[in-house]
Amino acid sequence: MSEHTQHNDKYTAAAKYIAERAGLVPHTAVVLGSGLSEVTDSIKDAVRICYSDIPHFPVSTAPSHEGALYCGLMDNIPVLLLSGRVHCYEGFSMYDAAFYVGVLARLKVSTLLLTNAAGAVNTSFAPGDIMLITDHIKLAAPSPLTGPHNALFGPRFPCMTEVYSTELRKIIRGCANNLGIPLKEGVYMYFAGPQYETPAEIRAAGVLGADAVGMSTVPEAIAACAAGIKTAALSVITNMAAGISGSAPNESEVTDNAGAAAYKLVSLIKEFVSAAG
Ligand code: HPA
Repeated sequence: MSEHTQHNDKYTAAAKYIAERAGLVPHTAVVLGSGLSEVTDSIKDAVRICYSDIPHFPVSTAPSHEGALYCGLMDNIPVLLLSGRVHCYEGFSMYDAAFYVGVLARLKVSTLLLTNAAGAVNTSFAPGDIMLITDHIKLAAPSPLTGPHNALFGPRFPCMTEVYSTELRKIIRGCANNLGIPLKEGVYMYFAGPQYETPAEIRAAGVLGADAVGMSTVPEAIAACAAGIKTAALSVITNMAAGISGSAPNESEVTDNAGAAAYKLVSLIKEFVSAAG
């Protein structure tokens, strides 16, 4: 059996399990990053499925990543919330990090909103800001599409000129405006971690055009773009990146500031779900 047939069988098995447990699967999915799992409080009548119960689904060991999927209603609109994700720094491959995207493609999810915690490179940003990701930079790390070509993820050499949908970005700007939430915009640069970046790496990131840095989101965004799932992504700025301010990035600052900004994200996500759904 070829490698991609095995992969496709895994996506299919996971999707079948979710569809059987959840009943109707929504067209919109939202992924909750570090410290943002309390967003699940705002989902009603949800079926909760632990990642560990889903066949082949990788389970996160990262702090403040819950590891459960919720299928329910947000202000009466059906949505799939994925609370927690896996990262390469936990020892997972890029393929594992993007596994759920293959499952979402199988479930015919058409719209995906990714969220994460990020460090600011742009000095006009401050902890607590929300940044709409306009594009990303991933230089050294491998791709989630490495391996035999799998048509589930489009052509062999998929185009990445619009990873973050122009249409969804417009919707998010409108939602933020309606809610009076100031929205920054910028380029997110992927670092594999788990160590925070050095000040020299952050200076380089700035020269290259990055506004924020983080250890997630990009593997999945690449896979989602290739699979034809319309994608948008929001970063909660939890800290100034290494060397940008007097204080060095640390885990408690990241989770505390992500938690403190979660209320803004909850209303933005709700507004987005109803505007996009
Ligand atoms: N660097 C990388 N990842 C992060 C950071 C950071 O400064 N903050 C939150 N996630």
